[in-house]
Amino acid sequence: MLRKREERRPAALGKLAAAGALAAALLAPAGHAAGEDLLAAAEAYRDDFRRPASIPFPEDNPYTPAKVALGKLLYYDTRLSGSNLLSCASCHNPGFGWGDGQPLAVGHGMQVLARRTPTILNAAWGETFFWDGRAATLEEQALGPIQAPGEMNQELGPLVAELGRIEGYVQLFEASFPQQGITPETIAKAIATYERTVVSSRAPFDEWVEGDETAISDAAKRGFALFNGKARCTACHSGWNFTDESFHDIGLPSDDLGRGKHLPGVEALEHAFKTPGLRDLSRRAPYMHDGSMATIEEVVDHYIGGGIQRPSLSAEMQPLPLSASERADLLAFLDTLTGDLAPVVLPVLPR
Ligand code: HEC
Ligand code: HEC
Repeated sequence: MLRKREERRPAALGKLAAAGALAAALLAPAGHAAGEDLLAAAEAYRDDFRRPASIPFPEDNPYTPAKVALGKLLYYDTRLSGSNLLSCASCHNPGFGWGDGQPLAVGHGMQVLARRTPTILNAAWGETFFWDGRAATLEEQALGPIQAPGEMNQELGPLVAELGRIEGYVQLFEASFPQQGITPETIAKAIATYERTVVSSRAPFDEWVEGDETAISDAAKRGFALFNGKARCTACHSGWNFTDESFHDIGLPSDDLGRGKHLPGVEALEHAFKTPGLRDLSRRAPYMHDGSMATIEEVVDHYIGGGIQRPSLSAEMQPLPLSASERADLLAFLDTLTGDLAPVVLPVLPR
């Protein structure tokens, strides 16, 4: 079945007022400073990108500090893998923007997997998971990599038994999940709760959105106006986390069918992948589901070129005539989305 989001066309432009300001910028009479109008357009868009005040937790797995602490232990514990050598953090490493810095993930027995490890930053706001959206919740997602032969290669029955032999875990599970103890479901709930607390820290862009005019350069402000306007990036990278949580073919040469494999017959979903958020982007190279682009410059040049023409290519993907200074402004803006890394203290694991 099609998800609702996929029936809906993404909103091509932000606020009408902002579109008006941008049109004014594009139609500016000769001699008029178009840069000034771009700065005015940037003002009009910025409210759409304000950080949310709190993290959403689902009703059937509410936040508790004990559950976060337990989930964090499990996230960093290599004993969750068949070899006892890989943890979630082996691939989703805070130091690499919660990815692994590799073009393609490397799992159990050094197997190279088919796709790049995505970040888990801001997963609390995710509507589907994996590049092709095949998991509906973080709870459902968490048990996937543990069992996948190519990833952590650990069967759940033996894992429950193994954790049950570690006295510290028995006590912590009982405290977080009274009368339930250690089960695949409680393992998944604890890990998912910890993941929801992994939120990108405040970036210079946020300081500007919240009123500090000096937090980002004029070049970055013009780049933000282009991102919303002429460059059409917000057709897909919308909202504070810069994703519409939907699936698009942006014309990469990879023959991976993405979302199309799960919903065959829907042309627009062939080669369509989930729009990644753009927070902490500078720490997350290489880019794309196949890790095919090493730098943000390469990504922007892909959008300037417009991608491979094929029936599934998104209608929003068209060659983008950016001047050298517009390209530089767009890059300056993307650079403002990376904040200082919030310190991560590794937990002492129970024995
Ligand atoms: C061997 C490397 C590896 C390990 C270990 C691993 N992952 Fe992943 N993870 C990946 C890859 C690769 C994907 C994308 C797969 C795809 O889309 O088909 C992914 C996807 C995800 C996603 C989806 C993110 C999104 O935005 O859609 C989440 C969440 C996640 N992993 C959490 C975990 C958790 C929790 C663990 C530990 C239980 C874990 N991963 C272990 C490589 C790994
Ligand atoms: C039609 C929707 C769409 C438009 C328009 C769009 N993007 Fe994307 N973007 C995506 C999707 C989908 C991906 C992931 C594609 C893949 O891996 O196959 C992506 C990937 C990216 C990435 C890599 C992120 C990562 O973690 O790998 C960056 C950076 C990016 N886009 C920036 C931009 C910029 C800048 C613009 C405007 C010039 C733009 N995008 C326009 C949908 C879009």
